[in-house]
Amino acid sequence: MLGIVVKNECLNKDYYIMEIECEDFVKSAKIGQFFMLKAQQRDFIVDPLLRRPFGICDVQGNKFKILYTIIGKGTQLLTHIQPKTKIKFSEPLGNTFSIVENSNIALVAGGVGVAPLLWLAKELKDKNNKITLYYGGRTTDDIVIVDELSEVSDKLVITTDDGSIGIKGLVVEPFEKEIENFDMVYACGPNKMLKAVSEICIQNNVKIEVSMDERMACGIGACLGCIIYYKEDDNIVQKRCCVEGPVFDGSKVVWK
Ligand code: FES
Repeated sequence: MLGIVVKNECLNKDYYIMEIECEDFVKSAKIGQFFMLKAQQRDFIVDPLLRRPFGICDVQGNKFKILYTIIGKGTQLLTHIQPKTKIKFSEPLGNTFSIVENSNIALVAGGVGVAPLLWLAKELKDKNNKITLYYGGRTTDDIVIVDELSEVSDKLVITTDDGSIGIKGLVVEPFEKEIENFDMVYACGPNKMLKAVSEICIQNNVKIEVSMDERMACGIGACLGCIIYYKEDDNIVQKRCCVEGPVFDGSKVVWK
């Protein structure tokens, strides 16, 4: 697909938000899906070679947003893309979150894992759910788009490892204290956090959906680079995050 970059804004030294206009993409995108984007857009330049997956952070009109952080050469290159640049990317890929109604919901986000939860929170809010968002990072720099998140949540709980903003400690700690309030939990962030959140949900018999941020090379199910292990009936089976995911029942993932 081909879109036009509307803005590519630096939020702080690590985080950027890019807005892209592409009507066809927005028409077909569903909440929880991702897409593949290669930072180096000129085909004859092969470094970095691979496309990277990005979650869809928000959709408005014929535009959508991605939230990204600099983790290597590809994302560093992305930061240089100027507004009005034409940009190529894949169609929306993967499965979607389930959307419930009239329920008490917890969203748990770790770092850039907050990205796919903004659009989800908006949709859940429209479906008359009560939303508590737990959002954790290492320092204040990991806590971004707070105004947008506040707007779509009834309660926003921020934690940082160093206590520079919000409660000092891990995001799972305040979440665990309030788990009995919730009918359904959605989470996205580091696997260690997803594992902890899933275990708390299993112990308290609460449904949990996780969006897995595995490394992906092809994004279309061909390279088998994004395999996770998953309980299905009485068996442990392999699932490709890019095709059968990225959203999974957290109580069935076999965490490493
Ligand atoms: Fe290649 Fe999933 S990224 S199979």
